[in-house]
Amino acid sequence: MDKLWAGDLHKALDKNADDFNSSIHVDSRMYSQDIRGSMAHATMLGAMGIISQKDADAIIDGLGDILDDLDAGKLEIDQEAEDIHTFIENELTSRIGESGKRLHTARSRNDQVATDLRLYLRDESGEIIQLISKVLEAIIDQAQEHKTTIMPGYTHLQRAQPVSFAHHILAYAMMLTRDITRIKDCVKRMNHNPLGSCALAGTTYNTDRYMTARSLGFNGITMNSMDGVSDRDFCIELLSAMATVMMHLSRFSEELILWSSWEFKFVELDDSFTTGSSIMPQKKNPDIAELVRGKTGRVYGDLVTMLTMLKGLPLAYNKDMQEDKEAVFDAIDTVKMCLTVFAPMIRTMKVLPENMLKAAGHGFINATDLADYLTKKGMPFRTAYKITGDLVAWCTHEGITLNQVPMEKYKELSDLFQEDIYEKIDLAYCTSSRISQGGPSPASIDRQIDYVMDFIL
Ligand code: ARG
Repeated sequence: MDKLWAGDLHKALDKNADDFNSSIHVDSRMYSQDIRGSMAHATMLGAMGIISQKDADAIIDGLGDILDDLDAGKLEIDQEAEDIHTFIENELTSRIGESGKRLHTARSRNDQVATDLRLYLRDESGEIIQLISKVLEAIIDQAQEHKTTIMPGYTHLQRAQPVSFAHHILAYAMMLTRDITRIKDCVKRMNHNPLGSCALAGTTYNTDRYMTARSLGFNGITMNSMDGVSDRDFCIELLSAMATVMMHLSRFSEELILWSSWEFKFVELDDSFTTGSSIMPQKKNPDIAELVRGKTGRVYGDLVTMLTMLKGLPLAYNKDMQEDKEAVFDAIDTVKMCLTVFAPMIRTMKVLPENMLKAAGHGFINATDLADYLTKKGMPFRTAYKITGDLVAWCTHEGITLNQVPMEKYKELSDLFQEDIYEKIDLAYCTSSRISQGGPSPASIDRQIDYVMDFIL
């Protein structure tokens, strides 16, 4: 296929060098954004009298037909083309002739690719947000079911204090709501039009970049043409947001993996999200959760790829920047795949409240509540803490829980203990009475669910 740049070069590119240079296998997925950008550009060129209205119309119609044919699978993208921009421009010219050759007036592939990428990432960001919202929905459904399902809350992976299962998983929902806002923030900054920056130094034609910005749904234009073609910080921001999404999913996955182990057995993942072993018939492996955890590393890698690729580049465009797409596309594909399987995995997961309660019963997770009981009756917290500590040691020795300590023993330690102590250290009571804002009480769970609901699309 003809190169767009054959101007002053006398030899064809070496075959391997040509393959090496080509990005069509990566950037062809931006064909619709490329065509949208070109249509906006041609419309502007026509409106500003830079090309004739007749040429502009022919270009726009031709591009429309190419888009339809590509969408319908009637036109195959030539993998020999250097990149998607080359392919579409050559295809246009072969269809409409001379007018097609006027499309690239007052434009360069440098501002073209910067535009395509912004449009593409803007579209994909919307899809990622949709998928996160599906995970939020699944979490909310489980939380609704398990507002009063008691489980041990952990610190240092040691049983610490009682919480509800709803409270625990809503923590992840909160993280994901921030991920949504982070992505929306990236899009805000990303959504400026670089088209018309041309190769690096703008153009002598009387273009109107605000016109193309409006028709492409940009919020404004990039204010410096050299920045417009060489900045990729919008990719870095989005990659960082995606790496954070993955980090959240990975932590959640780690818990699902632990919870579905025989040691915990707090949940059972649905058969449709687990695999068996080819040799051990008893196995039910949380492969999907493990893969999400595993794929987190590659998204971090994509972020580092982009940061490293850019760090030494002089202004403006350098071919190194062609590497931007592979990294950011890989991250997008990975995040989308992970979110897609995550939502139904959460939704179909069977929660096992009896096992959670059993675990909550052993581990003295109501010890703080016992100390608080004494403190509320006037004892200084430190003293109450000490008494409780001694009692826990005694219980451990006796092999019983705080709820099984006889009244005489309590009285021996402090007169402040009365019959109501048993009710006050009951795990259900301990959880529901944690009425602090943002705590695990059912009223707080309702408020949390309401908060998350606002992010559901
Ligand atoms: N395929 C190129 C890229 O993705 C398009 C821009 C080419 N520009 C150039 N000056 N060679 O970066």
